[in-house]
Amino acid sequence: MNTLDSSPVARLLDRLFAEADTNDAPILSRAKAEIERRGGPHDDRLLADHFAKAFISVDRLTGRFLYTLALAQRSRNVVEFGTSFGISTIHLAAALRDNGGGRVITAEEVPGKVRQARENLTAAGFRDLVDFREGDALQTLADIEDPIDLLFLDGWKALYLPVLKLLEAKLRPGAIIIADDLAVMPEMIKPYLDYMRDFQQGYTSIEIPIGDGLEVSIRSRSPQPAPGRS
Ligand SMILES: C[S@@+](CC[C@H](N)C(=O)[O-])C[C@H]1O[C@@H](n2cnc3c(N)ncnc32)[C@H](O)[C@@H]1O
Repeated sequence: MNTLDSSPVARLLDRLFAEADTNDAPILSRAKAEIERRGGPHDDRLLADHFAKAFISVDRLTGRFLYTLALAQRSRNVVEFGTSFGISTIHLAAALRDNGGGRVITAEEVPGKVRQARENLTAAGFRDLVDFREGDALQTLADIEDPIDLLFLDGWKALYLPVLKLLEAKLRPGAIIIADDLAVMPEMIKPYLDYMRDFQQGYTSIEIPIGDGLEVSIRSRSPQPAPGRS
């Protein structure tokens, strides 16, 4: 049996997913009303106050997909933008446990969420695998030194490209970058997708239509030359 499907992790995830459903339902309906009132593209940064106590987590399938990718790659150094209450972090840490060890560095700017995520990761038995960075990810992730095997982007969408660029030099060849919420906020994610799908930037990138829509990109050995240039 793998760590994800064993106790205490499986039972904890059952509880957290159930709590997320109950807790988030009224928050999401208030946020939806606010989006309609504002008009224009759905920019999650403008809803930060609504979401300060919401899980807004990956769903079960996406969580399992993250776990499977990290397992297949034998990831050791994982970085996550957007911890919330730690549901995706638990999936990533479970893969590290099954890979024999490693570290998830995870960034979250809401102190109450960091506190709760710490408790959840401790309850899962993964406290030794996780380095919590509290504050704005653009600052707290700036000092990462190890080559990054896998990067999961799930904070505010307008920051995907700035966070990627902050970490780009640390991505090892073959690094996997996963970005969530393509289907929910296409306008906010467009600059990131345009960059990742421009082959000259050195990625091979594909949309995976599960959960809220994922873009999975692989860092090539080096950025590609433009066609026609030697
Ligand atoms: C969609 S939720 C993350 C859900 C989490 N990955 C999961 O599946 O359980 C996005 C989180 O990113 C956090 N966030 C957004 N922008 C941030 C920033 N600049 N620095 C740190 N955290 C940020 C938000 O506070 C929010 O909790």
